[in-house]
Amino acid sequence: MSDLYAVFGNPIAHSRSPAIHAAFAAATGEKLCYEAWLAPVDGFAAAIAEFVAAGGRGANVTVPFKEEACCLSSHLSERAARAGAVNTLSFRDGEIFGDNTDGAGLVQDIAGNLVFPLAGRRILLLGAGGAARGVIAPLLAGKPASLHIVNRGADKALVLAGAFADIAAVTAGNFAELAGKSFDLVINATSASLAGESLPLPAGLFAVGALAYDMMYGKGETPFLQQARMQGAERCADGLGMLVEQAAEAFRIWRGRRPETAPVLAELRRQLVS
Ligand code: ATR
Repeated sequence: MSDLYAVFGNPIAHSRSPAIHAAFAAATGEKLCYEAWLAPVDGFAAAIAEFVAAGGRGANVTVPFKEEACCLSSHLSERAARAGAVNTLSFRDGEIFGDNTDGAGLVQDIAGNLVFPLAGRRILLLGAGGAARGVIAPLLAGKPASLHIVNRGADKALVLAGAFADIAAVTAGNFAELAGKSFDLVINATSASLAGESLPLPAGLFAVGALAYDMMYGKGETPFLQQARMQGAERCADGLGMLVEQAAEAFRIWRGRRPETAPVLAELRRQLVS
């Protein structure tokens, strides 16, 4: 019988994780079955208990349950504890192991797939919510020259920067204070585009050769990448690669081997544009 895995979220019907993991399983010959489980907003823990009782070996967790999955875990990886959120659960011997592969997925996409090494770069992170928090420690591990966080409310960005001060000096502020500054890598971790709003980015923000990276993705160019391109960003990338890389890292945690991601990413891209 195949080992059982699933992704939990609400909503979940749109999730591409079952297709990604099915492709990884086929490519590696690992025998597993990966489903999408819709958990009620107030019933995440009960849904996980039901899944474990049904023989579930591991699960991915998406919006809005990543923080709750962190609390539910009996053991946390260091990066999950740093993120305050869990996107990958493993169930063994009655224990729940929580990890977070989002930041590793982002860094693998930027430094690996896009061949944009982080060392020595000036990084700007837009947003100070859960998505931003999850990627800070892995970005700092790449030894950038600097990491600056901006948020509409600077207080939230300052608190976030302070939480990582033991790793490296992280600075923070609001959008208005960006005037006159420029960066090599600008990462959008805000949810502004979901509300159809654009970000107040000053002219000159993108240094020569800069990469604009949107953690969101969709059919066509995202609003942030459209704005970045118009403001002179030389390279633009959306978060589809991050999605595939975080999944590959979860697969490695569960199965002990990391699948090849390029063919899966190419197929997802093809489906997205057609
Ligand atoms: P997520 O888990 O996706 O990070 P979140 O924790 O709700 O979601 O955080 C959303 C982030 O997007 C926040 O940094 C939010 O800024 P505020 O703290 O000021 O709300 C940011 N955001 C949302 N809409 C935005 C907009 N129109 N302009 C700029 N930032 C926005």
